[in-house]
Amino acid sequence: DVEKQAAAIVSKMTLAEKIGQMSQISIDIVCKGQDTPPTSTLEIDMDKLREAVVKYHIGSILNAPNTRARTPEWWSDAIAKIQQVAMNETRMKVPVIYGLDQIHGATYTAGSTMFPQEINLAATWNPVHARKMGEITAYETRASNVPWTFSPVLDLGPDPRFPRQYEAFGEDPYIASVMGYELVKGLEGDDNNIGNPHKIAANMKHFLGYGVPISGKDRTPAYIPMNVLLEYHVPAFQAAVDAGVHTVMINSGIINNEPVHASFDLMTKLLREDMGFKGMIVTDWEDINKLYNRDKMVPSIKEAIKAGINAGIDMSMIPYNYVEFCTLLTELVNEGSVPMSRIDDAATRVVAVKLGLNLFNAPNTLSKDYPEFNSKEFQKASYDAAAQSITLLKNNENILPLKKGAKILVTGPNAVSKRSLNGGWTFSWQGEKIDEFGDNYLNLLEAIQAKYGKENVTYVPGVSYAQKTEWATEHKDKFDEAVAAAKSVDYIILCLGENSYCEKPGDLDDLYLNDLQTELAKEVLKAGKKVILVLSEGRPRIISKFSSQVDAIVQTYLPGIYGANALADVLSGEVNPSGKLPYTYPAFPNSLVPYYHKYAEEQENTDSAYNYEGDYNFEYPFGHGLSYTTFTYSNAKINTGQQSLGTKDEIIISIDVTNSGNIAGKEAVQLYSSDLFASLIPDVKRLRRFELVDLKAGETKTVTFKLTQKDLSFINLQNKRVVEPGDFEFQIGASSADIKAKLAFNIQ
Ligand code: IFM
Repeated sequence: DVEKQAAAIVSKMTLAEKIGQMSQISIDIVCKGQDTPPTSTLEIDMDKLREAVVKYHIGSILNAPNTRARTPEWWSDAIAKIQQVAMNETRMKVPVIYGLDQIHGATYTAGSTMFPQEINLAATWNPVHARKMGEITAYETRASNVPWTFSPVLDLGPDPRFPRQYEAFGEDPYIASVMGYELVKGLEGDDNNIGNPHKIAANMKHFLGYGVPISGKDRTPAYIPMNVLLEYHVPAFQAAVDAGVHTVMINSGIINNEPVHASFDLMTKLLREDMGFKGMIVTDWEDINKLYNRDKMVPSIKEAIKAGINAGIDMSMIPYNYVEFCTLLTELVNEGSVPMSRIDDAATRVVAVKLGLNLFNAPNTLSKDYPEFNSKEFQKASYDAAAQSITLLKNNENILPLKKGAKILVTGPNAVSKRSLNGGWTFSWQGEKIDEFGDNYLNLLEAIQAKYGKENVTYVPGVSYAQKTEWATEHKDKFDEAVAAAKSVDYIILCLGENSYCEKPGDLDDLYLNDLQTELAKEVLKAGKKVILVLSEGRPRIISKFSSQVDAIVQTYLPGIYGANALADVLSGEVNPSGKLPYTYPAFPNSLVPYYHKYAEEQENTDSAYNYEGDYNFEYPFGHGLSYTTFTYSNAKINTGQQSLGTKDEIIISIDVTNSGNIAGKEAVQLYSSDLFASLIPDVKRLRRFELVDLKAGETKTVTFKLTQKDLSFINLQNKRVVEPGDFEFQIGASSADIKAKLAFNIQ
């Protein structure tokens, strides 16, 4: 119905109007000046706006201008001005669709309820948090009069060198699928009625294969065979398509020497025809031009536009030279190089999303209609996600929780950095504006002092991040001061990790935690006190040069604005940690394989012909995380004893999990399967199901997992999903390496 209505509207458009719908520009170019230094007075330049929207029929705007304002009211006014021009001063009266990177909450809206990053949501092993983040983000984004977000990120994150690993749900395709589905539903609603003024259009990104460039660096070439793309990278996107997601953004990179923005096979054949995606395809930043000026695929911008649009792009994130895009695309259509049917198709898909959003009838939402904006309930949802994500990696002699009255030295650059708790896409692209906007939130030092008393907590920087804009540069402060201060305390809390970054500025040459922080750790360890390492980092930086000597390790990832409070509650025991790693924490820079690598470590170690270490050398394995209580597993069953199943049968697995300690706790119970023999070398194991169980002290619950044979299938060399009958094994565990029960069975 919406598609028919959209087609009817587009059928009345001129070519220029249709091309305008396919064009997205950055708001900077319709603002008055650059507002530097940022104030709250930046205004839309109505002449420039009219030039774009009335003369060139531009249909979409994105980005946040460089202004201090960015309150819901500022956004509401600015976008209302845009809609007024689009709907009152153009012939077709088509509203503009505004898109923002509201990545972990309504991150470009000042005062919003910012959440932990996606990597933390994955670490909760609790999809409820992804749903909640989606719902609250949608609400607060609409409060800003914005109907569209470029979220969720569904790139697979098996490579910690990649600077955007934290934006995604980790290394496992199944977790990413479950979380991605929930985030889409949270943003768009169960019924995907994005016309609901509490919902927005979601955008799954970056299709496809973005997270695994061979260099580990952002937007550099990847080589991924089709069966690998289908096996590991497609599932999360397919889950989002099944969830009804309305839009998709394309991977900026190059796969198998073909830029994805020019790939008919990936965008049209795979995404549209095979995966059934009906929504709108938008490019990433300036990526059509890059087919020419970066990728050298074609000899001109004009040829680049032809390649991208013919391959299936519906909207170009131009984002600056829109006159060039509109002029050249018009020429291409007039010359017959881009068929009118492709233009009609693209413009119809854009207009359909606008109709779905009800923008024609209600182009604006008003901030005053969103009284729950940053409510206590929303803040609690963000805090809960942070608290449930924090992962206790090590706790020798149960030194945590730390008793009240303990004398503590806090040191390290992350102790006083809010950037390091929030990561990129926090008020600003690189997250550097957190100090301007994030006055109300605690840093780690403040939260620890609030918990343990200022009189008990000494702070010495040790090393600190040099300046706001240089995320990786550090300078040595005073190791000696930290070492001296360590003498008079019982515990040292070392707050290490990374400063915020995103995209290319986060590229790394060395995955080790940087030298100064490593040196600080080694120095304070010499004091002979109990050391608790608190990591706040977008990806696992290698800590094996000193990790064996610390007593406890707590991974916070990027826990957001309430992350410091959550960490203090975990340290004190008010929160019993239940997070588990959604990725493998590598021990060495040349051991970067995910848990589902191909060769079993047991196989390698027993093969006398080879005398090498296994390739899966982890600091901590995928799925690992400790609790302040203990859990025991018993009574594992498969279809009540039946070991042989037909390919059509449902597989039912159950296990009893008991909290065998003295306090309540949550345990993420993980079900893996191994195909013991297969025509393509089988993965060591694959996560098939998980469930977070909440258990009082002494309580037992039965966890039941239901699967079908499709869950045991793989993509073969003909790129077909198949189940090969034969022997399988299920493993139920507390992590991928801590298996509590094994169940053998076969499919006939
Ligand atoms: O949505 C982002 C994308 O993830 C990276 N490049 C810019 C886009 C728009 O800001």
